[in-house]
Amino acid sequence: MKNHSPRIFLHIISLIPATWLFWQMWLWYNFFPHDLTANPIEFITDFTGNWTIRFLLLTLCISPLAKLTKWRLIKYRRALGLYAFSYGLFHFLNYTVLDYFFDWMLILEDIFKRPAITFGMLAFLLLIPLAITSFKYFIKKMAANWKSLHRIIYIITISAITHNYMMVKADILIPVIHAMILSCLLALRIYFILDKKRMFKKK
Ligand code: HEM
Repeated sequence: MKNHSPRIFLHIISLIPATWLFWQMWLWYNFFPHDLTANPIEFITDFTGNWTIRFLLLTLCISPLAKLTKWRLIKYRRALGLYAFSYGLFHFLNYTVLDYFFDWMLILEDIFKRPAITFGMLAFLLLIPLAITSFKYFIKKMAANWKSLHRIIYIITISAITHNYMMVKADILIPVIHAMILSCLLALRIYFILDKKRMFKKK
């Protein structure tokens, strides 16, 4: 019999930030004391943006961790990627609905005139095809192309961290930590590619 506990655990952990946020938004909406600070919209944008990056980095951790530990972790990668997309969608919707009230002219102006927003939009737009093609049907249908497409997760994460770095107002510590984690993951990826080539040559 299959053990579903790790998967259930992963979903519970991943949903905790969203549940907490919805609860705080409900309190805010009903004029109760809440923890969304004096500027709830900005708080929600920062909160969802940071969780998007955390899930992107977690998704990228899966493959190297599976290789290093030989644990069968790849099956959890899709869920983590979809959580990254969901928090990213929440972040974008918060900006579009609560911050700009669907003022598309202003939103487009922001996207084209503020490089920080351009990077964020690029990351979000590139996440959409990854989310759509993350299902088994596309994995089978796209075969080798699927892997090539999903490599853009590195471009997405670089764009997202650049956006994060450019958006912070004072303390750059968090985006710098994000960038350091991403650099380690990229270095590991290069190491595995070189190692594979070396093994292939030996044979
Ligand atoms: C995958 C895509 C994205 C990621 C990972 C992301 C991540 C982040 C992060 C981490 C922050 C927090 C910066 C801080 O700590 O102050 C942030 C802020 C922000 N993001 Fe994004 N973002 C993404 C896409 C977008 C898009 C598409 C838009 C709008 C078109 C956007 C608009 C903003 C704005 C306006 C802020 C500043 C909020 C404020 O502090 O006033 N982001 N983003």
